[in-house]
Amino acid sequence: MALVVMKRVLITGGSSGIGLEASRLLLLSGHQLTLCCRSQDRCEQTHQTLLNAGADPDLIDYLVVDLADLQSVSQACQQLLQQGNPIDVLVLNAGQQRAGDPNPAFSAQGIELTFAVNQLAHQWMLMQLLPLLQATPQPRLVITASDVHDPATGGGRVGQPAGLADLAGLKCGAGFVMLDGNDRFDGEKAYKDSKLCNVLMGREIARQLQGALPVIAWSPGLVIPKGQGGFFRFNRERNPLGMAIFSLVARDLLRVTESLPTAGRLLADLAADAVFTTPGFTYLSNRLVRPGLHRFAAVETSKEATDLEKAAELWQLSEQLIGSVLADR
Ligand SMILES: NC(=O)c1ccc[n+]([C@@H]2O[C@H](COP(=O)([O-])OP(=O)(O)OC[C@H]3O[C@@H](n4cnc5c(N)ncnc54)[C@H](OP(=O)(O)O)[C@@H]3O)[C@@H](O)[C@H]2O)c1
Repeated sequence: MALVVMKRVLITGGSSGIGLEASRLLLLSGHQLTLCCRSQDRCEQTHQTLLNAGADPDLIDYLVVDLADLQSVSQACQQLLQQGNPIDVLVLNAGQQRAGDPNPAFSAQGIELTFAVNQLAHQWMLMQLLPLLQATPQPRLVITASDVHDPATGGGRVGQPAGLADLAGLKCGAGFVMLDGNDRFDGEKAYKDSKLCNVLMGREIARQLQGALPVIAWSPGLVIPKGQGGFFRFNRERNPLGMAIFSLVARDLLRVTESLPTAGRLLADLAADAVFTTPGFTYLSNRLVRPGLHRFAAVETSKEATDLEKAAELWQLSEQLIGSVLADR
């Protein structure tokens, strides 16, 4: 029988949806988790949920990290570095979207919120926590991206496609509306762009580390859990009827969605299963084969997401932006 090696996993976005389900499964398998939640309240609520699900409290740590505030990310990472505990698996999973919002929202440092939370805060975490990740014998990085980064996929071709152009927005520094320099906000495209950035971040870190560890970006498929909150909370607030109809049609009639338990299991497997140890960058997607059936497999990313020069430029511009906004404080 194969020996299951217990891992120390640090996860963002473990307080809800796919990340919460993955955290539950990892804990029940005996892995040790540090959950990064946006506030003390969210830490406490998540703790109660996981205890109710039978998790061993001795296996769980919490850290307040508001990804919409780079200062909060800095403080949390400093705390982790001072503690010095190696991290076997870093799971960058948190994400949010503001589809249908005609106006941009901004992070504590004045950076468009979708990019700030989904990408920039995660790059900043990664940059700081790399020494803890590299201090373990078999480190692994998992990034929850999405197929919507790819204009050739079903989700990616609805509305404006992802596309960063020459990153003209990011080059302007804090205050930009869209990464490509467009000054008209499109919440759906901002989300797709942020997921394209997630894939490019994976490519770039794999290049920097010269294939020293597995870097896995993945797409869970369309996941619309029943109930309030979760990934579509913003859509529900803005357009409750439209969201109710969309959920009913996609999830219950056409059955093109993935279930939350399966999506959570996929993430838990990516974090801990011995199968996912191939060094270097891999992109896996959970794609619909026919109604009610998905197949999870390694697939190609979009062409733009293979552009290593763009990946390096995105990393460098992001690093400069982080440096400049934190220096302004
Ligand atoms: N659901 C889908 O159809 C789908 C499809 C493709 C990709 N994805 C990706 O899958 C990942 C997980 O999404 P999900 O469906 O599980 O959505 P979810 O239930 O809304 O979970 C998102 C997580 O991100 C956290 N988060 C958001 N903003 C944060 C902030 N400022 N600081 C700290 N944490 C923050 C949330 O914390 P709170 O609980 O405090 O809000 C929550 O834990 C995301 O990266 C998403 O882009 C989802």
